[in-house]
Amino acid sequence: MLTVINNPLVKTKVDILRDKNTSNELFRTNLKKIASLVSYEAFKDLELYQDSKNPITTPTNCIVNPYKLKEDVLLVPVLRAGLGMLDGILEMIPEAKVGHIGMYRDEKTLQPHEYYVKLPKLDNPLVVIIDPMLATGGSAISAIQAIKNRGYKKIIMINLVGAPQGVELVEKHHPDVHIYLASLDEKLNEHGYILPGLGDAGDRIFGTD
Ligand code: PRP
Ligand code: URA
Repeated sequence: MLTVINNPLVKTKVDILRDKNTSNELFRTNLKKIASLVSYEAFKDLELYQDSKNPITTPTNCIVNPYKLKEDVLLVPVLRAGLGMLDGILEMIPEAKVGHIGMYRDEKTLQPHEYYVKLPKLDNPLVVIIDPMLATGGSAISAIQAIKNRGYKKIIMINLVGAPQGVELVEKHHPDVHIYLASLDEKLNEHGYILPGLGDAGDRIFGTD
């Protein structure tokens, strides 16, 4: 299950991130904006209820039972680069809880290594994995498995840029996980970087290299 967000506001901002001359500051601000726009699409089917126990009164003295989200939402950024999208999504859904998964990709083998998992205990939440890059897909399938191993069942993933290989790997191992992408790019290079891509997302967010 794959949705590529075909929105002009997203596309123009992704190209700002692709530009190698974009500063770390501009990279961060645009990544945050894209994360908000993509989450708008990814959360469009969230179920609601009307809270009759806590009615509100409008300035025109009408009583309204306000809409609330039916299920808990648990955002899980994959460290480090996922942190760059977290605030943009939290601005759209401030009631969400946040867990963290630490994962890095070995530069030579491209294999993912998990170094940290901290998830709040919630009853059957919608878990949203956040990571700008879906390259070989190794980090994604490990992150999804780590979350499933802790008993969570409903999982979606929001990425910024994906390669066909990464999408295929996630679909093969976790066909139940819906992937939301701002761009499906062409391919990977011999070092496992996405082409055209935007380079190393973590480095460009945090100014490391
Ligand atoms: C990047 C990215 C993903 C992973 C994608 O993280 O944020 O987690 O690579 O690659 P894959 O699909 O081939 O597994 P990285 O390992 O560079 O860690 P960082 O976020 O700490 O820089
Ligand atoms: N991780 C990144 O940050 N960028 C890529 O292109 C691939 C993996």
